[in-house]
Amino acid sequence: MNDVTMEKIVSLCKRRGFIYPGSEIYGGLSGTWDWGPLGVELRNNVRDLWWKMFVQEREDMYGVDAAILMNGKVWEASGHVSGFADPLVECKKCKKRFRADQVGDPSTPLGAGKCPECAGSFGEVRQFNMMFKTQIGASEDAASTVYLRPETAGGIFVNFKNVVDSFHPKLPFGIGQIGKAFRNEIAPRDFIFRVRELEQMEIEYFVRPEAWEDSFNQWKEQVWRYIAMLGIDKVKVHELEVPDGERAHYSKRTIDFEFDFPFGRKELYGLAYRTDFDLSAHANASSVDLSYLDDASGERFIPHVIEPSFGVERTVLALLMSAYTEDELGGEPRMYLKFNKEVAPVKTAVFPLLKNKPELVAKAREVYSMLKKSVPQIVWDDNGNIGKRYRRQDEIGTPVCITIDFDTLGEKPELKDTVTIRNRDTGEQERVSIDSLVSRIA
Ligand code: GAP
Repeated sequence: MNDVTMEKIVSLCKRRGFIYPGSEIYGGLSGTWDWGPLGVELRNNVRDLWWKMFVQEREDMYGVDAAILMNGKVWEASGHVSGFADPLVECKKCKKRFRADQVGDPSTPLGAGKCPECAGSFGEVRQFNMMFKTQIGASEDAASTVYLRPETAGGIFVNFKNVVDSFHPKLPFGIGQIGKAFRNEIAPRDFIFRVRELEQMEIEYFVRPEAWEDSFNQWKEQVWRYIAMLGIDKVKVHELEVPDGERAHYSKRTIDFEFDFPFGRKELYGLAYRTDFDLSAHANASSVDLSYLDDASGERFIPHVIEPSFGVERTVLALLMSAYTEDELGGEPRMYLKFNKEVAPVKTAVFPLLKNKPELVAKAREVYSMLKKSVPQIVWDDNGNIGKRYRRQDEIGTPVCITIDFDTLGEKPELKDTVTIRNRDTGEQERVSIDSLVSRIA
């Protein structure tokens, strides 16, 4: 059974230390969230798996980590200064501002909906640029204006020539980056779905112009592979061909991978054919030659680009939605997160059966320390009784729990140095030797 609602997920995340409201003790800061101990591990797993699959395991991929603050000219050339905007309307009565497409039809400015706060009418739709602006250095003139990057892609395009000069890659090849991006969303909402400080995992894959379509289709399969590998519920993911007029200004073709969230079917990831838009624009604006020389044919041209783009926050949300499970175990209702073992923030919990028996605790500590060396994401738990510990670990998605009991100490000689391993999904327990634990858990 998977009767999952946003309320259940938000409350679980806060209670169990995955995600907290940003700046909470000061009343919060809209569109920001802080990641607690379990959330950090979960998002690190998401990122590490992405990096391994798309950068480390491929010979045609290069990783970069560019600065978040970039020369303002980058975003002028990319079209973000002039075009990275959402339609905004202001209520004439209460002066509150909304994204026009969320309160009515933006193409009919004055007839567009009523204010959801006070039922007032809206003024004209205007374009609101979503980039955060700040100043660099001590002076505050136009030349010192910089933007927090609205997509990580920009840091990849400006390093295209560096990577080519350092590594001389043959086309096709790609550059991947994971990092923060910032968008002054008019209406951040739906928990971590639409935030103002987000993290993207992006690839710019450079191809010969005529090869774009094959590459696009290959990357479509790769996106599905990542979705399956993480354990996101594939039944809830749908491809949407984004029609003309609705694509970003740089894209000639875009597929959105949408997920059935409780608040509707919404974009999880994007896959775009950005043509040679960005490299050409940056070459023009910087007067630096960003063409590629094909050694074999002697041709020089600007490569075209396929861009799979993944958001960390939306990945985590889709994972939580996919993993959330309610069932009955031993006649009792329970809730657990059915994370796969790669994604689970805690891989294993180690318990002494009783916390007031020093010999049990000592043996359990020995097992815990031994495992912790090869599997860092394990925890110690000796709070409450065993049943409560299982429930707690189920709630955070720990795949297996290990209990050290009197048989481990040799109460039954034939069971000496064995422990019980309990499976999260079935609740079944088996007895295994301590010697076999490292290889089993790793
Ligand atoms: N470089 C292409 C690009 O940035 P996008 O569709 O605007 O395209 C890519 O964003 C991905 O980044 C989205 O599919 C989503 O996963 C994530 N994303 C974008 N805006 C977001 C926001 N405000 N909050 C959370 N995630 C966001």
